[in-house]
Amino acid sequence: MSTTFSGRIALVTGAASGIGLAVATHLAERGARVVSVDISDRLAEATDGLPGEGHHAIVADLTREGAATEVVAEAVDATGQVDILVNSAGVALLDKAVDLSLDKWNATMALNLTASFTMAQAAGRQMTERGYGRIINLASQASVVGLDQHVAYCTSKAGIVGMTKAMSLEWAPAGVTINAVSPTVVETELGKKAWAGQKGEDMKKLIPAGRFAQPEEVAAMIGYLASDDAGMVTGENLLIDGGYSAV
Ligand SMILES: NC(=O)c1ccc[n+]([C@@H]2O[C@H](COP(=O)([O-])OP(=O)(O)OC[C@H]3O[C@@H](n4cnc5c(N)ncnc54)[C@H](O)[C@@H]3O)[C@@H](O)[C@H]2O)c1
Repeated sequence: MSTTFSGRIALVTGAASGIGLAVATHLAERGARVVSVDISDRLAEATDGLPGEGHHAIVADLTREGAATEVVAEAVDATGQVDILVNSAGVALLDKAVDLSLDKWNATMALNLTASFTMAQAAGRQMTERGYGRIINLASQASVVGLDQHVAYCTSKAGIVGMTKAMSLEWAPAGVTINAVSPTVVETELGKKAWAGQKGEDMKKLIPAGRFAQPEEVAAMIGYLASDDAGMVTGENLLIDGGYSAV
């Protein structure tokens, strides 16, 4: 375990479950103080066992206007600064393109895209001022390929890639990197629900590695991007898909 996040403050959204919780654990195990954010009131219970001290939990609906500014301000009040932001809160609301309701479309954009933007913007303001920052946005393999019934999801994740590139240009001179990570199906609540049954078995056959990813494998990639070692990596969209998009 050579990477250390000792002295670093990491703000992780969607930290009550899945990839967000795995990232919070990965960073805390390596010395970071973690500010966890989630809409779920199970957040405190989920993050209670994080190793180390000085963590902080904020229950918030990140789709509410003004929430991102408040969350970043509370994180800075509680810990002094935000060095790392991981935008993991997300939803997958699926339907055929001809049937998808406008409500599902809007709810997908509000969380996956707009909340990732407002969080990156609010954290990016103080990171660029301080001259250091690492932002990692959860996109998906759906950012680079089309998937059945995923029209809103694919659009929101492709948007994340565009946002990440645009912000990277503006913030690189200030020592702030921003990258996206794009997993294939990950075995979390979201992944298991979206890919239950035969549909999931069929999907695994299309992944050269022959399996879905584990949250810890995604957290390990995010840990690298969040580290001091990754200072020259910015504006990228890193696939963690067992070769799915290479075929
Ligand atoms: N699981 C997969 O197969 C997979 C694959 C590729 C990308 N991703 C992406 O990774 C990210 C995390 O996914 P996951 O699988 O860990 O999902 P998850 O459902 O396990 O976790 C998502 C978390 O976001 C929280 N959340 C939902 N709405 C919120 C809101 N309005 N405000 C604050 N928090 C809210 C939920 O309470 C939950 O704890 C998502 O952006 C997802 O799109 C997941």
